Amino acid sequence: MKKLWLICILCFTAQIQTGAQDFKIPHNKNAALYPQQNQFRNVLDLSGIWRFQKDDDDKGETEQWYTGLKSSEQIAVPGSWNEQIEGIRDYMGIVWYEQNVFVPQGWSGQRVFIRFGSVQYAAKVWVNGIAVGMHEGGSLPFAMEITPMISRNSKNRISVRVENILKPTRIPVGGLPPGGMFSNNPPSSFDFFPYGGIQRPVWLYTIPKNAIKDITVQTTLNTADGVVTVKVEKEGTAKQAKITLEGNKEKLETKGSFTNNVAMMEIKVPAARLWSPDDPFLYHLTVTLINGKDTQDEYELPIGIRTIAVNENQILLNGKPIILKGFGKHEDFPVLGKGTSYPVIVKDFSLLKWIGANSFRTSHYPYDEAFMEMADREGILVIDEIPAVGLYFDDNREQISEREAACIRDIKELVNRDKNHPSVIMWSLANEPIASNRNFRLAGKATADSISLNFFRQLFKTVKEEDNSRLACIVGVQGGPDEWLGLSDVICINRYYGWYAQTGKVNEGANLLSKELDELHGKFRKPIIVTEFGSDAYPGMHADQPEMFTEEYQTELIKAYLDVADTKKFVAGMHVWAFADFKTAQGVIRFGGMNWKGVFTRDRKPKMAAHFLKSRWTKAPGK
Ligand code: GCU
Repeated sequence: MKKLWLICILCFTAQIQTGAQDFKIPHNKNAALYPQQNQFRNVLDLSGIWRFQKDDDDKGETEQWYTGLKSSEQIAVPGSWNEQIEGIRDYMGIVWYEQNVFVPQGWSGQRVFIRFGSVQYAAKVWVNGIAVGMHEGGSLPFAMEITPMISRNSKNRISVRVENILKPTRIPVGGLPPGGMFSNNPPSSFDFFPYGGIQRPVWLYTIPKNAIKDITVQTTLNTADGVVTVKVEKEGTAKQAKITLEGNKEKLETKGSFTNNVAMMEIKVPAARLWSPDDPFLYHLTVTLINGKDTQDEYELPIGIRTIAVNENQILLNGKPIILKGFGKHEDFPVLGKGTSYPVIVKDFSLLKWIGANSFRTSHYPYDEAFMEMADREGILVIDEIPAVGLYFDDNREQISEREAACIRDIKELVNRDKNHPSVIMWSLANEPIASNRNFRLAGKATADSISLNFFRQLFKTVKEEDNSRLACIVGVQGGPDEWLGLSDVICINRYYGWYAQTGKVNEGANLLSKELDELHGKFRKPIIVTEFGSDAYPGMHADQPEMFTEEYQTELIKAYLDVADTKKFVAGMHVWAFADFKTAQGVIRFGGMNWKGVFTRDRKPKMAAHFLKSRWTKAPGK
């Protein structure tokens, strides 16, 4: 055994000296299970102040900054770098993060991993100067094994090279040449600030040699009984898995044997207490790995028993129609940027309850896992979106294929992460794709070509292969091709009649919305959600006769859209854009580098429209 370790050390030393570096691409399954502390597993949160150094000339790797930063500043993790330190707000480049962490002797005999909740956009990771792995794509977690690189009972250096360069081949799409009057800075083909950095928590965690690798839970109903199927994937010698489901005065148990490291089990729950916004009841599932008399590993997770389906007019939750009332949101707060803040997450949910909302879309990227756990506990329905915003189809096939590969990568990583949340009812595979990036028009309808149709067919095929238990959609832009919308289980459209078109004319806009809703339903016979509608309202701007950018105009437009929706039996949801004001790139249509369409201000104070929505969404039915 000692000889093997010696060979490992010699190889890794050689790697440092020669500079030959072997970065592995981490397997999705490494990040499937959120780190959990128990008798078999350990977790260490690395949130705090890290060392930080800009790498303007991209010389860090050749100069081996992973052996220790020479002239660093301080930076908070989690957090976007842009608003923390002077002079780097618009910096879209390469930076280095570094932290020392003590790995206790008590972790010996366990496998040690490092997990990032998200790094925007690309990361390379070293431990004690030894290359570990790399990952591309923000807003989703990745985890890498570092067992061979660490030394126990001493400090270990974590080095991360983070790159956030906007490119047309990435999602979200950016880095395109200026587009005339509507170009913005930093050059982003999306309407939110392109923050970068280690924006979510970082953990070290351990698992035993014989470990649970992944758990997939699906629930169905058999009249009043719940049926919970559990798929357990493992590594190591365990022969069996045991699952225990507790809740609603029940304790139900079963075992299953492994074949090719997979065990499938099913538990029937008599008279199950179902999960819904009115009663977000969660059962407690415990999965245990067994080898004869030995218990080798254990993992616990909350699960909600519910079903989701559609008919031609409605979304059905547990077989009953449900209307989504809520918002498109952003992860956005002053100084934090897109950095995880638990107080802000808690505040957002308390405001969602205050206003009477029952859902939101994670526009335009997956949100921190804490959002998803709270949505399960609070009974908020989630449309979970990959960062595919700014897609277009009139550049070369190679770039389109690169964007498709990025979308498929993120679909797999998102389903891998969020597949067990009862709150997630629909996957959104793109926001506002446009046929042409050069001559986009709001009026009329663009036509879909075979390239774009095949692109989206591939995305839908992928998401249904990953998870056939939920709905899927793409969110259509005003003026976008109808053919794309038809691929969705629910027709989802963003509409700005009365704002970007029919400007200043709310009633004319509402009439056009009504007409188009009838046309779309007549064409597709599917339920429709208006996933965005609203107007900018600069906080505190008022007028006696509603005028654009005033709070009165915002309230009037929102009311007009809700009144239209109330006349359509096939409208299954209305999501106001947006929950709160949020930061954008600079541009002539974004006063102060902000989008003011929030019904709450950026620091979460209600505007007039918030009070209107509260009165509308919380009044008892029939009143
Ligand atoms: C679009 C887009 C949003 C954007 C909004 C707006 O619908 O999806 O990301 O912020 O319009 O222009 O305010």
